[in-house]
Amino acid sequence: MFQLTTGEEIPLEFHRTCIVRQVRMAPPRERLEALRSAGFNSFLLQSRDVFLDMLTDSGTNAMSDRQLAAMQQADDAYAGSESFCRFREKIADIFHKPFVLPAHQGRGAENVLCRTLVREGSIVPMNYHFSSIRDLIRAYGGEVVELPMDEAFDLDSCYPFKGNCHVGRLEDLLRREGPERVPFIRMEACANLIGGQPFSLENLRAVRAVCEKFGVLLVLDASLLAENLHFIGRRERPTTPLREIAAEMAALCDIIYFSARKFGCAKGGAIATASEPLYRAMAPFVILFEGFLTSGGMSMREMEAATVGLEEAMDPEQVRLAPEFVDYMCRELKKLDVPTLSPPGALGCHVDGRRFLEHVSTQEYPAAALAAALFLASGIRAMERGALSDGSVGGRDRPLPVPELLRLAVPRKVFTLSQLRYAVDRIGWLFRNRQLIGGMELADGETPAESFAARLRPVGGWENVLLQKLLKEGLA
Ligand SMILES: Cc1ncc(COP(=O)(O)O)c(C=O)c1O
Repeated sequence: MFQLTTGEEIPLEFHRTCIVRQVRMAPPRERLEALRSAGFNSFLLQSRDVFLDMLTDSGTNAMSDRQLAAMQQADDAYAGSESFCRFREKIADIFHKPFVLPAHQGRGAENVLCRTLVREGSIVPMNYHFSSIRDLIRAYGGEVVELPMDEAFDLDSCYPFKGNCHVGRLEDLLRREGPERVPFIRMEACANLIGGQPFSLENLRAVRAVCEKFGVLLVLDASLLAENLHFIGRRERPTTPLREIAAEMAALCDIIYFSARKFGCAKGGAIATASEPLYRAMAPFVILFEGFLTSGGMSMREMEAATVGLEEAMDPEQVRLAPEFVDYMCRELKKLDVPTLSPPGALGCHVDGRRFLEHVSTQEYPAAALAAALFLASGIRAMERGALSDGSVGGRDRPLPVPELLRLAVPRKVFTLSQLRYAVDRIGWLFRNRQLIGGMELADGETPAESFAARLRPVGGWENVLLQKLLKEGLA
């Protein structure tokens, strides 16, 4: 944060904008039409109708001039590409793991990993799931066991590492089930679905000790590693360079994979290991599912951009802006009494849909209702991160409470401070008018297999009341 002479602290951008894209703010009536056509599901909105796209930070980050310049030297050789050599060297340089497999995106890497290691009856413990790996583990006959800290579900707790894995429960599980059923333990950096919450280096070390004790592999999902390094740098190891923290973490893990749509700010993914046998076991599945061993289905231009993006992810000055923007939004929203997740995590500002809409039951998808209301009130597209996307209303039982969050993603270097202030202002307006917002129901009455495709309907037609209020107050 940067301190102004007034004492106010703001996240100051240490970059210049070189290329811009014009965005349009559709008027409220048009926004309601767009929402209706999209079945009130922000995933089904058309980008042209969106003013600020805060759906995700995946593949939506701004690139640096150096990334764009590097794209010009892409070598499209089918095999043995120079671009891949540079990509592999950069990953090996950061993680000290010389065996690198490319993948078209994060879930491509996850598929290769799971196809290689997961079997019928496998159990994969983790700090928290991400949807793509959970569904892949299940598809290969395995089961996910989540072992978060209790603090992870206390949205007010300021516990600094809510992404930690509960080591006691992990050890109990391994003792109970036996390590033979556990192909690997997965740790996710800045666990996405609990609000981008980091784990500590100390916790990773403790998880590693359990892995050694039971002879189980440790796998790191590094998609949000840059921000996890940032938080460790701020909260645990203030004097250690990010690159050194990354090397320390990597030394504790057997396999590291990531989505370069986040880590590297380009489109692609990769798996890295120091074990040649593991590399040899996974490599055939890269060829089968992704592409040749030196492309993995990635465009070489994107691979060049990712190589530079990974280097930039080691620079605290380049990493800090997105989490500081998230921090700023949460702080400003708190001043308006809007319930947000504490402490602010990576990738986006998370609003607690349950407390925002206390009068709406979980069965009526409060976070999805809030996403629809926010789009109507502002043209901002956010993402429901709750029971609907988890598939847990009308779906399978979940042993853990599912947070009902509205996520406003802050892609890296995309928004300006005034755009964030606009978002805060409109969320604050909605909070003051929250009694006008009701719940949602599924338009076809059934829980769809895929929440992305769900068509919803506001219960009782509250969207018309909200529109009238907007028009009456003359809000554009
Ligand atoms: C933590 C995490 N792991 C894996 C993935 C999957 O990556 P991709 O979308 O590139 O397939 C994501 C995507 O958002 C993610 O957040």
